[in-house]
Amino acid sequence: MHQRWQKRKSQLPLIAILLFIFVAFTILYNESNIPGIHHRNSPPSGVDGGEVRPRSTFHGGDFFSPTPPQSFGSVRNPPVRLDKHAICNSTVKYSGRRAFPAVRRAAESGVRPPDRKCDLFSGKWIFDNKSHPLYEESQCPYMSDQLACHKHGRHDLGYQFWKWQPHGCNLKRWNSVEMWEKLRGKRLMFVGDSLNRGQWISMLCLLQAAIPSDQRSITPNSELTIFRAENYNATVEFLWAPLLVESNSDDPVDHRLSERILHPDAVRRHSSRWQHADILVFNSYLWWRQGPVKLLWSDEQNGVCEEIGGQGGMELAMEVWADWVAGNVDPSKKKVFFVTMSPTHMSKDEWEPGSRGNCYGEKEPIEDEGYWGRDSDMPTMRMVGEVLRQLGSKVTVLNITQLSEYRKDGHPTIYRKFWETLGPEKLADPASYSDCIHWCLPGVPDVWNELLFQFL
Ligand SMILES: *[C@@H]1O[C@H](CO)[C@@H](O)[C@H](O)[C@H]1NC(C)=O
Ligand SMILES: *[C@@H]1O[C@H](CO)[C@@H](O)[C@H](O)[C@H]1NC(C)=O
Ligand SMILES: *[C@@H]1O[C@H](CO)[C@@H](O)[C@H](O)[C@H]1NC(C)=O
Ligand SMILES: *[C@@H]1O[C@H](CO)[C@@H](O)[C@H](O)[C@H]1NC(C)=O
Ligand SMILES: *[C@@H]1O[C@H](CO)[C@@H](O)[C@H](O)[C@H]1NC(C)=O
Repeated sequence: MHQRWQKRKSQLPLIAILLFIFVAFTILYNESNIPGIHHRNSPPSGVDGGEVRPRSTFHGGDFFSPTPPQSFGSVRNPPVRLDKHAICNSTVKYSGRRAFPAVRRAAESGVRPPDRKCDLFSGKWIFDNKSHPLYEESQCPYMSDQLACHKHGRHDLGYQFWKWQPHGCNLKRWNSVEMWEKLRGKRLMFVGDSLNRGQWISMLCLLQAAIPSDQRSITPNSELTIFRAENYNATVEFLWAPLLVESNSDDPVDHRLSERILHPDAVRRHSSRWQHADILVFNSYLWWRQGPVKLLWSDEQNGVCEEIGGQGGMELAMEVWADWVAGNVDPSKKKVFFVTMSPTHMSKDEWEPGSRGNCYGEKEPIEDEGYWGRDSDMPTMRMVGEVLRQLGSKVTVLNITQLSEYRKDGHPTIYRKFWETLGPEKLADPASYSDCIHWCLPGVPDVWNELLFQFL
């Protein structure tokens, strides 16, 4: 892995970017044991072993009814479970097949009336060290070593002090007690990849101080991690499902990185876990950006896969997901959110033409209003917009892309825990291993949660 990166580093920037993402996910692979996410009785995160691989022992247990959920779509028998050993006997070109040719229209379909006079996602960042950060990094016992930038040596803390100011209105002030009241007796679940997990950790950090320590607990990290607040009879959970549909990446620890194989028509293994949640926050994007994926249809007998580009694969997955939403969500009982793509800042050239490097060393947001980086794929955004539009009021978009685009200063860069050994030549060139994908906490994902708060 390390060597391959070195060898190809000088090639096309696109390859470099893809490889960087690949490296980042390889790092993720080892990030498994999210240090800091531990039961209140476990040792403090300073002595965690990032290398220790937890076994996935938590399978819902008493939390879920033992009876299988209602049948889903047209898939009668559950498809073979994919894991890192899954293989395609052979691969052919994508046949054009679709599981759900048209998303079932929401009852009150059609163009959604604007629910508010003001677009909360259009605005600017204002330096405000009085109102932000909303918590201290060191005060959050659930902090991840991947996101704790100050702890890992970042001394310019400006990234913590920015407040989001929509044009034309103000955000309702964050209030964790008010948020807990909204969550009383409910399950809030985040479903997606490591970016969504960052938002979930941010939510725990925002909320935890309001709960006495003997009233809260967290299950060991696995596919589904559950934070419980006894006094509110509420949970804040994270389900790892980076491609939404079933795939060989579904184990947050033990998955293959080189090849994505997915069931384009099966989401039931995941939906059986998320269907009980009252508030669902989904995301999916970066895992589709590493080149073509392989589709293994549930009824395929001979292990023949079809290969399709990432965006095409994501569209199929979104359709299956949307079919679940259309058939299972009553907006008066369940709230569903979809978080749009989280931008990356891997080429400084994009905001400072002619320069080299990436987000490493950036201390201020981008001021150029409307700035849009090239890794935030517009055709994908349009596809997502179309799928969500068809779901009408059953889903609310958290369109965090534009506002996060401005925050080139918000990434961990070298100030996080790295699980691979960094050789001297890497250490001499910090930009070469900077993480310009995830976000420091406190930071940008806190604002995503402040926005979520506005809609509850
Ligand atoms: C806030 O920022 C201003 C300007 O940089 C600085 O003078 C002040 O000391 C800061 N206040 C706090 C509480 O950090
Ligand atoms: C706790 O919340 C669950 C729903 O998440 C509900 O079924 C249960 O009755 C609640 N228990 C109490 C004691 O309120
Ligand atoms: C792959 O093909 C072989 C024979 O050609 C068959 O025995 C095997 O079951 C196939 N594998 C899968 C996963 O279908
Ligand atoms: C999100 O906002 C951008 C503008 O910032 C817009 O182009 C895009 O269509 C929006 N996406 C969705 C899904 O609403
Ligand atoms: C992941 O951790 C294992 C040890 O558990 C190590 O051998 C491997 O090199 C690490 N891989 C990366 C990419 O960090």
